[in-house]
Amino acid sequence: MAARKPAPAARAAASRKRAPPRTVLDEHLKAAALDVADDGIVISDASDPEAPIVYVSPSFERLVGYPAAEILGTNCRMVQGPGTDHETVRQIAIALQQGKVFQGEILNYRKDGTPFWNFLRIAPIRDASGKVTHHVGTQTDVTELHLAREREQELESTLAHASRVRTVAALGASIAHEVNQPLAAIVSNAEAALRFLEAGDAAEVREALLEIAGDARRAGEIVLRAHRLVRKQPAQAEAMDPAQVAAEVLAFTRTRLRHAGIKASVDAGKAVPRVLGDPIQLHQALLNLVVNAIEAMESQPADLERSLRVTVAAVADGVVLRVADTGPGADDESISRMFQTFHTTKARGTGLGLLVTRSLVEAHDGRLEVARNRGRGLTFTIHLPGDRNP
Ligand SMILES: Cc1cc2nc3c(=O)[nH]c(=O)nc-3n(C[C@H](O)[C@H](O)[C@H](O)COP(=O)(O)O)c2cc1C
Ligand SMILES: Nc1ncnc2c1ncn2[C@@H]1O[C@H](COP(=O)(O)OP(=O)(O)OP(=O)(O)O)[C@@H](O)[C@H]1O
Ligand SMILES: [Mg+2]
Repeated sequence: MAARKPAPAARAAASRKRAPPRTVLDEHLKAAALDVADDGIVISDASDPEAPIVYVSPSFERLVGYPAAEILGTNCRMVQGPGTDHETVRQIAIALQQGKVFQGEILNYRKDGTPFWNFLRIAPIRDASGKVTHHVGTQTDVTELHLAREREQELESTLAHASRVRTVAALGASIAHEVNQPLAAIVSNAEAALRFLEAGDAAEVREALLEIAGDARRAGEIVLRAHRLVRKQPAQAEAMDPAQVAAEVLAFTRTRLRHAGIKASVDAGKAVPRVLGDPIQLHQALLNLVVNAIEAMESQPADLERSLRVTVAAVADGVVLRVADTGPGADDESISRMFQTFHTTKARGTGLGLLVTRSLVEAHDGRLEVARNRGRGLTFTIHLPGDRNP
């Protein structure tokens, strides 16, 4: 085996014999490399303040469309044009002046006027004493990359806009949904006041007017609150006990629950963390779900069991509030329609309740989910992050 393979020294000698003279090879290779390279290469003379070009590679001629003869001896700024950023040009000048490397993207133009994005790198070349004698610039056409990035940014800003539009739509929805109630009360109290006025009953007129004033104030507060919501400030950030919110919402609907013959319960787990947010908004979010559950069960024959269960429990990433009913439930298609603006199956519904609930929950960095129960009905779940500083 050893006899077949030449010894290391012999191998080295053989390869030395085959190699052409080093300088010849280098010149040939350099020229070939510069010729096939896509990146442009430019060398300029740093001893002249005008920084005249002393060398351009064939790839640079191809990139910018100027033949070497036309640009040797001139400054490289001939590739700049109307869309070139002045600040970037200024940064190049500063880097050159300070003997530093410049690297960045700049909009340049070919001889025929077509623009391209140039990833430009300019570095100083120093002599033995450290003095900058030349600069070498390399140019890469990154137009494709640039366009792709622009498209991506455009998409991102479209998405951001879409979510802003949704927030604003939800704001309108929220106002419409919540203001409706006090407005209806104002109208009926005003009609009552007119009747009392004709009957000469000043005390009743006074009572009705007081109620009108109260409802008008409530409507005003709702508008203010909705305005805060769209400004992304759950302004009244308070630490609150979610179990207490649940109990209060059920207390609020007690009469209605009794009339509908619904058995209602709050099932609060142990060690439920507090949540941070606007108590009024959270009440509203949960109330919309509870009212939906009540209405769903009212739509069913009275002999079917009607039960409403509100569960409050701690989960790994915070708290869940579940509202489970024994109503008619919904198929996949109905579930996907529920959250659409103005979608309602009720004669007097606005179809905004779930939308409002979802946007209130999302304003608290939470999420709203819905699932079919094993038995009858649906369960809506509000997930909220727990308060990190209990
Ligand atoms: C070696 C070298 C290569 C350069 N290549 C480019 C280039 O490809 N595109 C460009 O816009 N500017 C390029 N420049 C920068 C301009 O030549 C010039 O330095 C710049 O516009 C700042 O100077 P000014 O403010 O006098 O124009 C290069 C500069 C040097 C020294
Ligand atoms: N618990 C539920 N069980 C069955 N269907 C439900 C339930 N909750 C909501 N839905 C369906 O989703 C629809 C949309 O609910 P949403 O609360 O958005 O509006 P709405 O209740 O119809 O009207 P509004 O809340 O404005 O009075 C309802 O009309 C109903 O068809
Ligand atoms: Mg509703």
